[in-house]
Parts: sequence; C-alpha cells; structure tokens
Amino acid sequence: MSRAYPNIGGPISLVNQNGEQVTEETYKGHPTLIYFGFTYCPDVCPMTLVTVKRAYDRLPEGVSPPQTLLISIDPERDTPEQLAQYVSTAAFPDNLQGLTGTPEEVRAAADAFLADYSRIEQPGSESEYSMDHTSLLYLMDEDWQLKTFFTHEDTDETIATCLTELLEQ
Ligand code: NI
Repeated sequence: MSRAYPNIGGPISLVNQNGEQVTEETYKGHPTLIYFGFTYCPDVCPMTLVTVKRAYDRLPEGVSPPQTLLISIDPERDTPEQLAQYVSTAAFPDNLQGLTGTPEEVRAAADAFLADYSRIEQPGSESEYSMDHTSLLYLMDEDWQLKTFFTHEDTDETIATCLTELLEQ
C-alpha cells in the first residue's frame, strides 16, 4: 500500500500560527499530514479538515495521528493571527498547525508538492476573491518523504484504514 513519489514533496520555509519560523526540519522525526488550503474557503478546506479529525478519531490505540499542517495558499489574508484562530476550531485535528509566509515562500512550498492555486476575483462579494487550489492530503514519513496521499473525497474510514496500515509499528 505504501507508494513512493520521489518528485512530490520538498523543502518549506514558512511561519506557523505563533509567528515561529518553520522548515521541513521542524517536522522530521514524525509523520506529517499536509494540506494546502485557506481559512476563507467556504467548503472543501473545512470539510477536509473535519474528515481528517474523524479519521484520527478512528485510529486504534497505539497508532498516533500524524502531525497535521494546513499550509495557506492565501497569505494575503491568512496571517499567523488568522491561522491561530482557525486551527483552534474544535472540529479540526487537535494537533493542526497553520503555516503561512510571503507569497514567494508559499508558492515555493506549493511548487515542491506540485500543488497549484490561483486567485479568482469575485467583484461585489464580501470576500472580494476566492482561491482555486489543489485539494490533496500528503502523508510524509519521518524523513519528509511522501508516503502516500489522499484526496478530499476519501472518507474518514478510508483514511483511517490507510493510516493504520502505514503508521502501525
Ligand atoms: Ni478550499
């Protein structure tokens, strides 16, 4: 079930919701589940994070959930302060961290994961614009190598089963 994708996944240099500088080295030593999204997303991002939380709730005893990262592809609005509030949402994983950075840092991180995003203007709407973005969950191993990925359409049951197989000691 474990697959290797040597071209997907690479270095990141961002700040977390507490304003602390982080890189891939920050997370090595523990599996990490990464999602690129944004806090103003009305549907797919929050639903995906809820699904991840439900998947973690299904993990058997002895299988620890991976560290969970939301990397914002909307750094203009997703400041560390905005992310701090968002990641504390009760329906999201307890260990969720929100990462952001300069537009260049965010683009470099997304490029490393072959993730794409673009701004969609919505003149007249309250939020002015939305973001179109790749919606995948990347499971990185303790060496920051891609182990597998999930789509936002995978169920919490599917994700839990796969995580259990891959992370069980
Ligand atoms: Ni979204």
